[in-house]
Parts: sequence; structure tokens; C-alpha cells
Amino acid sequence: MSINSDNFSILRDLPPYVFSVIDEIKYKARKSGEDIIDFGMGNPDQPTPRHIVQKLIESSLEGRNHRYSASAGLPKLKLAITDWYRKNYNVELDSENETIVTIGSKEGVSHLMISMLSPGDVVLVPDPCYPIHSFSVLIARGRIKPFNAINDDTLIDNIEKGFKTSPKPKALIISFPSNPTTQTVELEFFAKIVDLANKYSVIVIHDFAYADLCFDGYKAPSFLQVPGAKDVGVESFSLSKSYNMAGWRVAFMCGNKEVISALRRVKSYLDYGIFQPIQIAAISALNETQECVEQIRNTYSKRRDRLISSLSNMGWEVPPPRATMFVWAKMPEHLRHLGSLEFSKKLIKECKVAVSPGIGFGRNGDQYVRFALIENEHRILQASRSIKKLFSK
Ligand SMILES: Cc1ncc(COP(=O)(O)O)c(C=O)c1O
Repeated sequence: MSINSDNFSILRDLPPYVFSVIDEIKYKARKSGEDIIDFGMGNPDQPTPRHIVQKLIESSLEGRNHRYSASAGLPKLKLAITDWYRKNYNVELDSENETIVTIGSKEGVSHLMISMLSPGDVVLVPDPCYPIHSFSVLIARGRIKPFNAINDDTLIDNIEKGFKTSPKPKALIISFPSNPTTQTVELEFFAKIVDLANKYSVIVIHDFAYADLCFDGYKAPSFLQVPGAKDVGVESFSLSKSYNMAGWRVAFMCGNKEVISALRRVKSYLDYGIFQPIQIAAISALNETQECVEQIRNTYSKRRDRLISSLSNMGWEVPPPRATMFVWAKMPEHLRHLGSLEFSKKLIKECKVAVSPGIGFGRNGDQYVRFALIENEHRILQASRSIKKLFSK
């Protein structure tokens, strides 16, 4: 018998990430000793706040925390989650039936798709979007129906148009503040989504990964704040960005109890829960001082300002985002013909600056590149100087 890629039909739906082209160039350049200023992946560069790490250390020393944990999450963590919703959004949740802890949002959304979809079921997803929002559907053998999400003004209309098409979508995945577009919405937007979801019988999954990374006085609303949201959907929140805990893999999903129950059932077969000391440290993150969240937000806000003003100085005008840890920059007009992948290759080869090409997030992203604000202000200035040189050639 010879085993080859034909044995794994899923691989046809999962081509190598577009981003791997840039990663490969980055890897080779670094190997040959070059300094690459890396705005590629949304991977926080700062450490997890000390009191959270301290809690992890203490609870790791307790032997009883080394056993299998609860697949749906520790009851105390689920209580901390319901408190977090009450404190921040005035939303009441039943900690047992309306919350579940997941091994990061990616795991939660992916297993939710497996829990929800039958082969061929259609899910409406934004184009451009965070890649797992579409690939989780394909992994679950569903079908993606993309809607154009590039312009704020047409979002709702495009979603409704998508709901009306045949075969009818079973679910809608959205995420605001958005990665990559940095779009933000107000509560009325979610109220319209709830109305449409009721009208067309569609389940809504809202990914709220950037809930806390909002600037200039803006506060992103939670989907669950809309009366009746729990009847139509769920929301996922991650500790990865708000608490610099990306490597810890801890997130939660809350809302409709039938959806949560399906995910809980599937996860009960697949995992034994996150390492208990991580869950205990996550309780500290949610319950103790939120000053660290404020500091993290300030860091991104300053980096955003630095990048936006440096780009503007070289004639590259990009509106400052109100949220997220990204700058979504439309490519300068005279370079748009290159497409985002070629432009990104040029930036890394000629300027030693790595960004994510917009095409990696969907066809509609091809006139854009995404800067993740994971380099400090000094490095942002350094990167801007080399991009300016390229532009002035
Ligand atoms: C929209 C969105 N959702 C989820 C995640 C990942 O969250 P987690 O680390 O909890 O899997 C990211 C990370 O970049 C993201 O941008």
C-alpha cells in the first residue's frame, strides 16, 4: 500500500496558507542573519501579566491539579465568566447551561462547526475573514457562502442577501471588532442581525476576540446584549489578546443552550479539559484587577498612532482603526496592480518588513495588507523609514 495525499480528501479543501509564502521568505532571511521587522501574525509580543503567571505557578505545585479536568471547564471558571458578562455588559447567563470553556476560540469555533453541521450545510462567512471562520466550515464538511464584508455600509444588506439565497444557510459567522478589517459596530447592528436570524432561522456565531482592544473611548458591544440574542446564537471570547495569553489556549463560548449543549457533548468525547492550573489562572485573570487590560490596550493604541502617522508621513493615508491590534491598510494606488501577495513579498525582500497580504483573508482583501501591532514604537519607525525608501524609488 502507498499512502499519499489522495488518502486525505480534506487536504483538497485546506491548501497551504497564503501566509506561508511570506513565512518562508521570513524564515530564510532570518536564517541568513537578516533582521525582519515582523507585523505578520496577531501574536502578542508582551508577556502575560505577572499575577496570572503567579497563579499558574502556585496551582501547578498542587498535585491534585495534575489530573484530567472537566471538559466543559471548571464550574468556578464558568462562574467567573458569567460574572465577567454581568460586570462588563449587564448580561445574565446560566453558568452551567449557557457557558462552555474552550481550548482557545479556534478550537471552540471549529468543534462547534463539527457539532452543528451535516455534510453540505451552508454557512455564511465574511470575505475577508479570520481564516478559521471559513476553514472550520470546510473541516466540518460544510460549504462556505462568502458575503462581501469590505464596506461597512453594505454589511447588513449583504448578510440579508446571503440569507435569501438557496440553499439556505444554516449559520452565520461574524466578528466585531473585526480581524482583519478592524471594522466595528454598534449595538443596533447586532439587533438587526438578531431580527434577521429570527426571520430566516439562521444560527449566529459571534467571535468577540477583540472585545477589550478598543480605543478613543469606543466600547465594543457584546452580541449577547441584544434582547433575544441567546435565542439565536452564541458568542466566543478569548483570553489570548485581552490578557496576552495567546499560548495558554483558553477561551469561552456563551449563549444559546442548545448550541452550547451540542458543543459540550462533542467536546466530552474529544478532550478532558484544559490543564487545571491554566483554568485556575484564567479565573484570576477575569476576577482580579483589570489594570493589565488597560495597559495592553494603551500599548496597542500608541503603536497604532505611531504607525498611522508614519504611513501618513510617506503619503500612505490609512484611517486609524477604533479597535483590534491591527492596521488594515489599502495599498497605495500606484502599487495596487501588484496584488497584496506580490506587494507583501516586495516589502519583506526590499524593506525587511513582514505584513500579512489581504488575499490570505479572502478574495476581497487583495487590495490591502494587514499590519499586526506586535512590534514596539521604535521598530515601527524603523520599518516606516525603509518603506518610505521603497516608495521614493
Ligand atoms: C477574530 C479572531 N478570533 C479568534 C482568534 C484566536 O483566538 P484564540 O487564541 O482564542 O484561538 C483570533 C486570533 O488572531 C482572531 O483574530
